[in-house]
Amino acid sequence: MNDPKAFVTEAVARLRAEVPGPAIVAASGGIDSTTAALLAQRALGDRSHAIFVDTGLLRAGEVARVGELFRATGLTFETVEASARFLAALKGVRDPEEKRRRIGAAFIELFQEKATVRGTDRLVQGTIAPDWIESGGAQRDTIKTHHNVGGVPKSSRLVLVEPLRDLYKDEVRAVARELGIPAADRQPFPGPGLAVRVQGAIDAERLRRARVANAVVEEEIDRAVAAGEMPGPWQYFAVLLDAPTVGVTGDNRVHGDAVSVRVVESSDAMTATAASVPMSVLGRISRRITRELPAQVVRVLYDVTDKPPATIEWE
Ligand code: XMP
Repeated sequence: MNDPKAFVTEAVARLRAEVPGPAIVAASGGIDSTTAALLAQRALGDRSHAIFVDTGLLRAGEVARVGELFRATGLTFETVEASARFLAALKGVRDPEEKRRRIGAAFIELFQEKATVRGTDRLVQGTIAPDWIESGGAQRDTIKTHHNVGGVPKSSRLVLVEPLRDLYKDEVRAVARELGIPAADRQPFPGPGLAVRVQGAIDAERLRRARVANAVVEEEIDRAVAAGEMPGPWQYFAVLLDAPTVGVTGDNRVHGDAVSVRVVESSDAMTATAASVPMSVLGRISRRITRELPAQVVRVLYDVTDKPPATIEWE
């Protein structure tokens, strides 16, 4: 894709051809799905119905932020609060691929219900090229199953409409800018949310720890970038590890969790390098996480691995 304006015109025409009646749109508030939702609204008008699911796996403040973003872009949308449903689907699941499958299935089930209500079978998604390439679409081995790929079981009536499926992230950002989406340079966030940032079993308490740690990393890196201490990275977050460890509070040894901080440079998420974050910034992150999660997180690590051999997320 060379020309975002021409892409928008073509995508709108393709959507009109592909979607004869109403459609529902899976809108997470990320760049990809917001771009897809706005293209669908532009193409279909009020035949397009965007749905934002509060999975309970979102970052701190995300529900309010997404609401503001959608209102600012003029996107009409419905919010569905479904955290109990997603937590139940993930109960006792430790395997990363199984987590993705369960989340994908819970999304599809919910969208199927919504589509039935609106009398349609079309589901517009913001799938982009790396999602399906890494899900095994163009190579032998599946690196990981992105929750929004291959999640529609054969038994489902839903027909996927994917206006961005040939684009890479930097191209989507150009299209988003063309559509006037503010903060089009926001860092990517995985569809399965904090579920892929909690290693091992997921429950409300472990999710809360991951949510607090992620918020600290975002705030401290944003602050360091604004203060000119480091260049703005591609992605920065925290992972709650499944590695209980010993810490000390006052005179007592305690068992707590360890958190790994990940900050990477990349241009398309297909490869990445670990960013050289100043030790002073990492120190602030470590002190804040352990202070805000006292005797809960007692150790903070920095992940220095590039992609490959690691992936950007831990799961
Ligand atoms: P990895 O971890 O595969 O991530 O190096 C590459 C980029 O994709 C994001 N990511 C996901 N996005 N569903 C998504 O929509 C997923 O299941 C998923 N897993 C990873 C990741 O945050 C990074 O930007």
